[in-house]
Amino acid sequence: MGGVALLACSGGSPAAPTSMASMSPGLSVSIATPQTFDGFCGWHSAVATPSGSTPLGVHGSEPMTVYWKSSPPHGATQFPVGTTILKETTEADAGARTVFAMVKRTTDVGGYNVDGAQGWEWFSLEDNGDCTATILWRGPQAPTLTTYSDLLVGDCNGCHAKAESNDFVWDTALQLSGF
Ligand code: HEC
Repeated sequence: MGGVALLACSGGSPAAPTSMASMSPGLSVSIATPQTFDGFCGWHSAVATPSGSTPLGVHGSEPMTVYWKSSPPHGATQFPVGTTILKETTEADAGARTVFAMVKRTTDVGGYNVDGAQGWEWFSLEDNGDCTATILWRGPQAPTLTTYSDLLVGDCNGCHAKAESNDFVWDTALQLSGF
């Protein structure tokens, strides 16, 4: 294995949307920090809808918004390292929203979450109401029996595996073929 470029995305000020500009091309590992989610309200966004049929589960049926920090290049067959996707419900009280995220840590074979959504780290977040978020938990899978808003959050990897052909990402707005 060669040298691993390690870069923690530091993000900008909370008011300014962060970009991938600070990430070098060919980056092979990107580990999110709390600042990774700063300014998420200013990222690309869409109403969250599943592509194809899906069992209803953790995300329920309430309206949701999906945000992503930067789009994959045209023709990509997987999302680049550092790709950050955040999804939340739309309650007026930001602190009451259910917020999940996924960040592509690496595209290296055998790199991260190899038995699940390969390369992706999962997050449960709390919306701070100012376009920043606090990390409640993170990792290659949800903590055992973790609940969120009294719901069992379930098996992120198992359900997202059904979207493996789109690099484990479900949303209609995030189909690789559409970029
Ligand atoms: C029962 C199936 C199911 C489970 C379990 C599940 N998801 Fe999802 N997830 C979906 C579907 C379907 C979408 C796309 C539609 C939508 O946004 O609701 C989605 C969308 C997402 C998105 C937006 C990016 C994308 O893939 O479109 C994130 C981030 C996310 N889920 C995180 C999580 C996390 C974290 C967990 C575990 C705590 C989890 N999911 C568990 C089905 C699931």
